Amino acid sequence: MHKILIFTFIFLFSILGLNSQTLISPSNEIELVFSISDRGEPLYNLYFKGKEVIKPSTLGFEISTYFSGFSFTKNDFLSNYSSDFRLLQYTIDSYDETWSPVWGEESAIRNNYNELFLELEQESTGRRLNIRFRLFDTGLGFRYEVPEQKELGHFIIKNELTEFALTGDHMAIWIPGDYDSQEYDYNTTRLSEIGSTFDVAYTENVSQSSFSKTGVQTSLQMKTDDGIYINIHEAELVDYSTMHLNLDTNNFTFTSWLTPDAIGNRAYMNSPCKTPWRTIIVSDDARDILASRITYNLNEPLAIDPSWIKPIKYIGVWWEMITGKSSWSYTDDFKSVQLGDTDYTNAVRKENHAANNENVKFHIDFAALHGFDAVLVEGWNIGWEDWFGNSKEYVFDFKTPYPDFDIKELNDYAHEKGVELIMHHETSSSVRNYERHLDEAYSFMNEYGYNAVKSGYVGDIIPRGETHYGQYMINHYNYAIKKAAEYKIMINAHEAVRPTGIARTYPNLLANESARGTEYQAFGGSKPNHTTILPFTRQIGGPMDYTPGIFEMDISKLNPYNGSKVNTTLANQLGLYVIMYSPLQMAADLPENYMRFMDAFQFIKNVPVEWSKSIYLEAEPGEYVTIARKDKNSDNWYVGNSNGYEERISNVSLSFLDTNTTYNAMIYKDGNDANYSSNPQSYIIDTKFVTSNDTLMINTVPAGGFAIELSPMKK
Ligand code: NOJ
Ligand code: CA
Repeated sequence: MHKILIFTFIFLFSILGLNSQTLISPSNEIELVFSISDRGEPLYNLYFKGKEVIKPSTLGFEISTYFSGFSFTKNDFLSNYSSDFRLLQYTIDSYDETWSPVWGEESAIRNNYNELFLELEQESTGRRLNIRFRLFDTGLGFRYEVPEQKELGHFIIKNELTEFALTGDHMAIWIPGDYDSQEYDYNTTRLSEIGSTFDVAYTENVSQSSFSKTGVQTSLQMKTDDGIYINIHEAELVDYSTMHLNLDTNNFTFTSWLTPDAIGNRAYMNSPCKTPWRTIIVSDDARDILASRITYNLNEPLAIDPSWIKPIKYIGVWWEMITGKSSWSYTDDFKSVQLGDTDYTNAVRKENHAANNENVKFHIDFAALHGFDAVLVEGWNIGWEDWFGNSKEYVFDFKTPYPDFDIKELNDYAHEKGVELIMHHETSSSVRNYERHLDEAYSFMNEYGYNAVKSGYVGDIIPRGETHYGQYMINHYNYAIKKAAEYKIMINAHEAVRPTGIARTYPNLLANESARGTEYQAFGGSKPNHTTILPFTRQIGGPMDYTPGIFEMDISKLNPYNGSKVNTTLANQLGLYVIMYSPLQMAADLPENYMRFMDAFQFIKNVPVEWSKSIYLEAEPGEYVTIARKDKNSDNWYVGNSNGYEERISNVSLSFLDTNTTYNAMIYKDGNDANYSSNPQSYIIDTKFVTSNDTLMINTVPAGGFAIELSPMKK
């Protein structure tokens, strides 16, 4: 039916003699128009419910075929691959399937789109370029495909020139575009204010910093004055470099800005080849942005046997380190400890070395007692005495434990109690060193029975001059994921590039950090509305290892030298287990803090990490998010909320519950006198019987929140 409509549309256009092709989304609400300008530039624009949201925007590249030789000829090899095109032919198709993710926010995902595939030829060079558009009910994905051809074999992308021409000075929620961290507080400003709000200090502190004062990272969330939400990101970032967006404030047009490598090139290509998808999610209801599955749908289907992949709820010795209470390194004596030297007889062990047998066993016992799957232990391997800031190439070997960490005994102890230990590989961004050790490191994990690793990329990349987002590093992250799958290892990569839905294909990538996580609450704090933004930005590409669950907000109680405060209430921390979806969830605080609030801790113990259904109840980026999710392995439902700066009342309609069933609701919410800075630990636990006819009215304070567990009563 749709197909017929679309063909009719195109037919009309050709009769009218317009040189453009139109594609309509399955719901008919979104419309894409492709055309070619007088100069032969491919252009696209996008309408939502008849309103233009992307003005005619150019597509294409600047490329070079100069790889080596005499540099004075260099410019002769530069050429435009963005104009002088003519359309050879196009095809229209549609697709509708439902697939089952290995883990996720639901057990079935519908992948339904109409597709326009255009084959172009550059008249002066004979070079071919194809563009594929897929229009879903929640937005657009498009990518470039370079077919195999004698006119273009190997080439370098000097610049990608994809434009996103916006229709006005929208509100935007953005972080600055640097090349080594996504770990920023978000700014909420008009597009026109990006340049002046941009805090140069952000990027002076990091290497290879910003490309422009108006450059931002994706996923970028915007809102027009007439209430349309627009989100720009990318999907399937493979063998290419990361896309940032560079704004021209004169006309509110973003142009893609690919991360350059050490010599300024953006990507090395060889036809046939394709770019990642560029995505534009659009709706007049913010909840649709969260419900959109465009990013996953544009990735390739499952490529591995997933039978060994299991979501994980874990604890660790991590928060005591991050807060400065304990240490990763074994000794203060830098000289006595050399890599590969396991003779520590002369090294003076620090009292606060966290990864010691006794402390780890205590955590294993706590995990076993409270039903956690795993314990993360960082600081177990030698190298931490001199790991950071000196561009040192050979830091860790990923297989030599400190003398107070008995790797065999601890793994045996954990396994006897039904608990796993999670491996930690801090690479200190010496990526060449990591790759050299990777096979050995993963087999070492197999030998001791580890099935998951948290990897980390802190600091400047070695090889020097490469950055966290260039094609070289993208290939590294993907190589590590594939290699880990061969060893049946799950990955949680910190400081890696923000995800782009690759976990559909390789679900052993359980999570990434790749944004400002809870650790920043111990580094001075995050903005109170931070977690009302992350679902709209960072999480568009996949799960985040956000590490929620902090019950003691005053960090000076753990470390008198750390004056940070966690800028949320305790009830908000509980809500995060539902709103920040991840198949890997940490209960990050110290066991002793959980023991002080055992009734609230019960929610963390009960909350699942994989779901069969998710319903987005209330959402406004930067203000509030409320989500209901159904457990994949029981009939229980869970609801979570995170609230921003304003006190508000949530009206939670329970119409998603099964009818004719009474549920027991356990409601964990902010106390009447709760205040995230002065009284964050004030919470109330209410229990009541509810049915699908009920609506719960729940008050949340600034940076507050709530969590609800709904269990059906046995009939
Ligand atoms: C930064 C990571 O985000 C954190 O979780 C980790 O503990 C440290 N790096 C050390 O690897
Ligand atoms: Ca980090």
